[in-house]
Amino acid sequence: VSKDLDYIKSKITKHENFPKEGVLFYDIFPALRDSKCLDMIITRLLSHIYDEFGNKVDVICGLDSRGFLFGTVLSLRMGIAFVPIRKKGKLPGKCISLKSTKEYGSDVLEIQSDAILPGQSVILVDDLLATGGTLNSSVQLIQFLNATVLECIVIIELLQLKGRDKVPSSVFSLLSF
Ligand code: PRP
Ligand code: HPA
Repeated sequence: VSKDLDYIKSKITKHENFPKEGVLFYDIFPALRDSKCLDMIITRLLSHIYDEFGNKVDVICGLDSRGFLFGTVLSLRMGIAFVPIRKKGKLPGKCISLKSTKEYGSDVLEIQSDAILPGQSVILVDDLLATGGTLNSSVQLIQFLNATVLECIVIIELLQLKGRDKVPSSVFSLLSF
């Protein structure tokens, strides 16, 4: 079973000094070149979600932009809603916004105000957890809408940066480096 995880890990490449000097960047796109690998990732995440939350999830919320890749597939397979959190200025209609800082910069994140209803249960999905700034702000946006964050799910967690300590919800990562 953990052979799966080794296989997925073998498809993640590392790039020094990208996108900025001093950052070691983990790239998930080589894993998507291999559909068997993407299938392993999705299968693993789905079995974790069903084990942990059964049918209690109402919404998968994906983070701009690489969280969309995994989030939409999960929502499709679960038969539930997909909602994006995007960087400022990309979503039409009434939105709520919050600033966030990340490993190599800062953003203002937004969600459409009517996208998630009060009381709904939400799982957030992104490719990677670094300093946790992005997920911290994203959890807060969901909470501003009076919805519940069940968990944040990432493919990769960079343990040294201790990002999970900054995220006000439980965090599940498939792989850690
Ligand atoms: C990256 C990554 C996470 C975030 C993690 O996104 O995909 O969303 O940074 O960093 P943090 O834990 O330090 O906040 P990026 O803003 O590069 O977006 P992209 O997917 O659009 O390239
Ligand atoms: N890879 C992808 N996204 C990131 C990284 C990384 O290493 N660090 C912060 N965001």
